[in-house]
Amino acid sequence: MSIIVFRYLHFLGITFWIGSAVAIAIAASTPGPSDSGIAQSLRKISLRVTTPAMLVAFAGGFGMLIPNFAELYSKQGWMHAKLTLLLVLAGATGVLSGKLRRWAEGQDVSPKAFRRLAWTVSVLAVLIVTFAVFRPFSA
Ligand code: HEM
Repeated sequence: MSIIVFRYLHFLGITFWIGSAVAIAIAASTPGPSDSGIAQSLRKISLRVTTPAMLVAFAGGFGMLIPNFAELYSKQGWMHAKLTLLLVLAGATGVLSGKLRRWAEGQDVSPKAFRRLAWTVSVLAVLIVTFAVFRPFSA
C-alpha cells in the first residue's frame, strides 16, 4: 500500500479518535440523571468509533513509520517525542474506555475524572500535532 494511503488513514483515524474521545469525556463530565442511558450511549460510541479510529490511526502511522524508521525517523528527536506522547495518549484513551465501562455497568465514576481525561487527551493531541508539524529537535 503506498505511503499516501497510510497518511490518509492516519489523518482519518486521528480525526475520529481524538474528536470522539474529547467529546465523550466532556459529555460524561456533565452527566444527566443516572437513568438517562447516557453512560451506555457514550460507551457504545467509545467502542464503535473511538477504539476503531485509534487502531486506524496506528495502522496508518506505523505504515509510514516502519519502512522509513532506520533511515529517517530513528534519527528524528521530534518523532521519538511524538511516539512517547502518543503512548500516553493511547493509555488515556484506555482509561477513558475503562471508566465508561464501569459507569455503564452502574458503578459510580466521578465526573471530575472525565473532565481531567478531556483535558489530558486535548493537551496531548495538541502537543503531538505540534511536534509532527513543526518538527523541533530535527537532525
Ligand atoms: C498511533 C501512532 C502514530 C504513529 C506510529 C505515527 C507516525 C507518523 C508518521 C511516520 C508520520 C509521517 C511523518 C512524515 O511526514 O515524515 C506522521 C505524520 C503525522 N502524524 Fe502521526 N503517528 C501516530 C499518531 C499520531 C497522533 C495520535 C497524532 C495527533 C494527535 C498524529 C499527528 C500527525 C500529524 C499531524 C502528521 C503530519 C505531519 C506533517 O505532515 O506535517 N500522529 N505520523
